Amino acid sequence: MGSALPLGIAWPESNLIPALLGHDQSFHAYVHIPFCEVRCGYCDFNTYTAKEIGGVSQSDFHESIIREIQVSANVMRQSGYPSKSLKTIFFGGGTPSLFSSKQIGAILNSLESEFGFSDAIEITTEANPESTSPDYLRELSELGVNRLSLGAQSFDASVLETLDRKHDPARVAPLVQSAKSLCMDTSIDLIYGAPGESLDSWKQTVERALSLGSGHISAYSLIVEPGTKLARQIRSGELAQTDEDLDAEKYVFADRAFTDAGLDLYEFSNWGKPSAHNQAYWRSQNWWGYGPGAHSHLSGNRFWNVKHPLTYQNRVTESTAVAGLEYIDKRTHLEERLMLELRTSAGIPMETISELAINPELLASCQDNGELMVIDGNLVVTDKGRLFVDRIVLQLLTN
Ligand SMILES: C[S@@+](CC[C@H](N)C(=O)[O-])C[C@H]1O[C@@H](n2cnc3c(N)ncnc32)[C@H](O)[C@@H]1O
Ligand code: SF4
Repeated sequence: MGSALPLGIAWPESNLIPALLGHDQSFHAYVHIPFCEVRCGYCDFNTYTAKEIGGVSQSDFHESIIREIQVSANVMRQSGYPSKSLKTIFFGGGTPSLFSSKQIGAILNSLESEFGFSDAIEITTEANPESTSPDYLRELSELGVNRLSLGAQSFDASVLETLDRKHDPARVAPLVQSAKSLCMDTSIDLIYGAPGESLDSWKQTVERALSLGSGHISAYSLIVEPGTKLARQIRSGELAQTDEDLDAEKYVFADRAFTDAGLDLYEFSNWGKPSAHNQAYWRSQNWWGYGPGAHSHLSGNRFWNVKHPLTYQNRVTESTAVAGLEYIDKRTHLEERLMLELRTSAGIPMETISELAINPELLASCQDNGELMVIDGNLVVTDKGRLFVDRIVLQLLTN
């Protein structure tokens, strides 16, 4: 979640991005909406409030994104990518629900006319409870948005206050019910580990979230990002330090409660019906990330846009808004697969482990101590190993 962009090399003047890993991948779009009404104290995502962002008009910003969509279609055509219809689209942020349904509709029209949509396309939007209403959801649903990811975070008003969230927790349930009545899939985002959040408060949040009958829940451990207001508040003693042991207890409680309710874990922080969009990331498919700071991956080429919306807006009038590019070699690709796929409940195929030439003794010792196991030809992290998955990946790659 760090805010700095990697450096990489420059975008080629030819505008050609050869497919280094062949043409087997499916195609997906991420659209970054870089606006928020206020910045939450813990967040260092690439997002701006109206006060911070002179020279950029939120109500016209979709036009820059549409320009980038047109440029991306040309780049892919000229580079010889076979035309593939979009399988998923994800509006993320920032706060996508600050865009009117007209703006979202204009972006969708542009994506559809450039690429076409697959029959069972998944179109998700993230939304904040304070800027979403049942009418807005109905308008989005008429445009084809069929998945809502709602940032509830907690149902405890005092935890929301610590996190600087502005919504009333009572807004969440009616929005989830509206989305469900429109036949949208729903997902609820929660955060655990805010300073001062008791185990009891978290348990109630988990139970309230479950009572809404959402088909998907994400629960993220609060990361104290350097440079945020939250980091300053903790440093000055205004807020308590976070507590890793308590966070682990909260994770274990949530995992058990979600699983008992029929929402199976499929990735470390995600339970329920997997989002096709996230799976595309985890399986290294192709996606173009539109908007400031968005990252893209096209068949072994990884590139990312300039971060600031004003620079982005100026750049896309001419060409792409790419700030840097890197080529993913086979080894890096395999290492990234290990990192991503070991976090999923399906695990990673043993053939990929062989290609990575991981030390067999180390692998055996992780199996002996109950952190890893092999199921149906895949290496999988056990319940015991799950809390240590980052350490396990590091060990496997460095020995
Ligand atoms: C960047 S937000 C964008 C969507 C929307 N604005 C919202 O807040 O729900 C996506 C998710 O990332 C989470 N997030 C942002 N910063 C985080 C942090 N430091 N630690 C854990 N989760 C974080 C948010 O709480 C939210 O659930
Ligand atoms: S609303 Fe979401 S994106 Fe905006 S500052 Fe808060 S967590 Fe970050």
